[in-house]
Amino acid sequence: MVGLKLPLLLVLLHAVFGSAYRWFNWQFEVTCESDAYIAPEDESAAASFLRDQYARGSLIKVVGNGHGFGNLTTCVDTARTKKPSYIVSLTNLKHLDINREDMTVTFGAGWDVYDLIQELKANGLSFNNLGVEQVQNFIGAVSTGTHGTGSLVGNMATQVVGLRVLDSQGSLRVIDQTTNAEELKAFRISLGALGLITEMTIKVHPTYLVKKTTRVLNATTDYAQMYKEIAQLYKEHDRMTVWGPHFDWDSKAQDWAIEPTYFASWWEPTNYTGVRNCTLNYCANGCGDCKKNYICYDEVSDAVSCGPEGVCTHQFYAEIEHFFPAEYLLEAATNYTLFQQSQTPRMKAPYNEQMVFQFRMLKGDDAYLSPVNTYNLGPESSGVFAVLEIDWMQEYNNFTTLWQNQELAEEFLPRFGEAYNVRSHWNKMSPANSTYILEKFPKLPEFLAIQERQDPKCQFVNDFLVQQLGITRCSDYLSM
Ligand SMILES: Cc1cc2nc3c(=O)[nH]c(=O)nc-3n(C[C@H](O)[C@H](O)[C@H](O)COP(=O)(O)OP(=O)(O)OC[C@H]3O[C@@H](n4cnc5c(N)ncnc54)[C@H](O)[C@@H]3O)c2cc1C
Ligand SMILES: *[C@@H]1O[C@H](CO)[C@@H](O)[C@H](O)[C@H]1NC(C)=O
Ligand SMILES: *[C@@H]1O[C@H](CO)[C@@H](O)[C@H](O)[C@H]1NC(C)=O
Ligand SMILES: *[C@@H]1O[C@H](CO)[C@@H](O)[C@H](O)[C@H]1NC(C)=O
Ligand SMILES: *[C@@H]1O[C@H](CO)[C@@H](O)[C@H](O)[C@H]1NC(C)=O
Ligand SMILES: *[C@@H]1O[C@H](CO)[C@@H](O)[C@H](O)[C@H]1NC(C)=O
Ligand SMILES: *[C@@H]1O[C@H](CO)[C@@H](O)[C@H](O)[C@H]1NC(C)=O
Ligand SMILES: *[C@@H]1O[C@H](CO)[C@@H](O)[C@H](O)[C@H]1NC(C)=O
Repeated sequence: MVGLKLPLLLVLLHAVFGSAYRWFNWQFEVTCESDAYIAPEDESAAASFLRDQYARGSLIKVVGNGHGFGNLTTCVDTARTKKPSYIVSLTNLKHLDINREDMTVTFGAGWDVYDLIQELKANGLSFNNLGVEQVQNFIGAVSTGTHGTGSLVGNMATQVVGLRVLDSQGSLRVIDQTTNAEELKAFRISLGALGLITEMTIKVHPTYLVKKTTRVLNATTDYAQMYKEIAQLYKEHDRMTVWGPHFDWDSKAQDWAIEPTYFASWWEPTNYTGVRNCTLNYCANGCGDCKKNYICYDEVSDAVSCGPEGVCTHQFYAEIEHFFPAEYLLEAATNYTLFQQSQTPRMKAPYNEQMVFQFRMLKGDDAYLSPVNTYNLGPESSGVFAVLEIDWMQEYNNFTTLWQNQELAEEFLPRFGEAYNVRSHWNKMSPANSTYILEKFPKLPEFLAIQERQDPKCQFVNDFLVQQLGITRCSDYLSM
């Protein structure tokens, strides 16, 4: 009888408290079980939810769209704690207000990047900075320092001029560049650790078009030579992405074979007034057979980034993305590539498919947790960072190979971190090591002081945040 009663009891409990909710990231390899998915109707409902949960010390993970490669956005699994554990999404907060006098737009946390771009375009407006895709929640993207490319272009967070945030007791704080500019530097890139951001205000400008030029380039295994050519191209084009070199897995040789060509795209101002044609052909955005010379023109967001309709394949991959002062580009690119080659003998899996290197540039900034924060740079540094990404793609859903590749990927930071002043993208397999993080993020103590004020009972943390940021007061957060 007990065997019958227990499930019945659980069903009744779920009816009262809502159903358990399993969270997954975009490629379904990072997951956690929570007690419920909470999507408040508005800011005041979110505040009262927090007030209620504060008394119980419930664990709360605010999520965007889960487009990450690590455990930043993972909730605390219900199996690990007696406290309630919730996923909170602010997807219903959809208000939007354009201020043409200040040239700013203020919007609720529910806006995704793609929808915001469409809405702004319809009003003749654009913003300047975004990554290669538009699928993230806007605040989710900003909160990890999502960026595109350009030595004169900052990451998405640099355009934030104000926001509203709820702390763990449901109290509202309004932060903006006129009343509390210093504090804004903590909140621009907050990793979900400083509370629920309910609204954001960003700078916008009149829509403008850019010209995109794509050129096919010849690859060579003389890496120093190839990267010299790339470094030279960066002297000629400040807003450029290099897609390559690309390698294909040769299962016979059990080795990576370099593809003979790769390509680079750069963007520049234009007075063009004709048909906008970058999104007419999604090859332009990393889809299909893109290794060809072409030019196109489009509104800046559409020219540098790709809407959901242009994303034709999503592989199953491990990825690192490292930022280091641009002065190291040539040496670091060469040594990263050689180090990767030294790992290949340990990669013997017939399920590997492709490996892609990618290079971008990014202007440094002063957000406390910006991966391109300039706080520890010497006077010899230009303040511009190079961004090196490596993607390891393997057969879809082969977790064995994915995990193997993830382990190898995590060897790069210990190998090169100190030599090149490297910082990792927060949502791309950043290995936990708070001593190192403190060294590369000198404003971490200031960030943690605000974290304590916003979250005195350690309800917003998870293992990733505690370990990466070294939040020692929360080391017992599962049971405290
Ligand atoms: C295929 C792919 C391509 C990518 N390309 C790029 C790229 O070109 N450049 C780049 O820089 N990155 C890129 N990324 C990384 C991606 O931009 C970041 O991981 C981004 O943070 C994901 O946003 P999200 O809303 O999907 O994230 P989530 O993982 O859901 O959230 C990210 C963080 O924001 C926090 N958060 C979300 N909403 C709120 C809120 N309302 N208040 C407070 N905190 C909140 C979360 O707690 C979490 O810490 C790519 C990722 C993928 C999968
Ligand atoms: C995420 O966390 C889980 C559980 O600790 C771990 O097994 C997994 O390797 C982590 N994934 C990444 C990409 O760090
Ligand atoms: C690449 O090599 C081919 C064949 O050798 C040559 O025709 C072409 O001009 C080269 N391209 C560049 C950009 O150097
Ligand atoms: C656009 O036109 C203006 C005015 O004629 C000119 O000054 C400017 O250089 C042009 N810009 C480009 C990129 O051609
Ligand atoms: C876009 O239009 C321009 C001007 O007509 C043309 O030169 C270019 O080839 C077009 N690009 C693509 C990718 O169709
Ligand atoms: C990078 O490569 C050069 C040349 O092989 C070598 O002298 C140097 O020690 C390497 N640096 C690092 C940090 O690996
Ligand atoms: C995944 O790859 C491993 C080897 O790395 C192999 O043993 C396993 O059979 C593969 N699994 C699937 C489901 O393809
Ligand atoms: C922390 O990271 C740095 C750089 O990756 C490395 O040199 C150091 O050994 C690491 N320390 C620990 C304790 O893992």
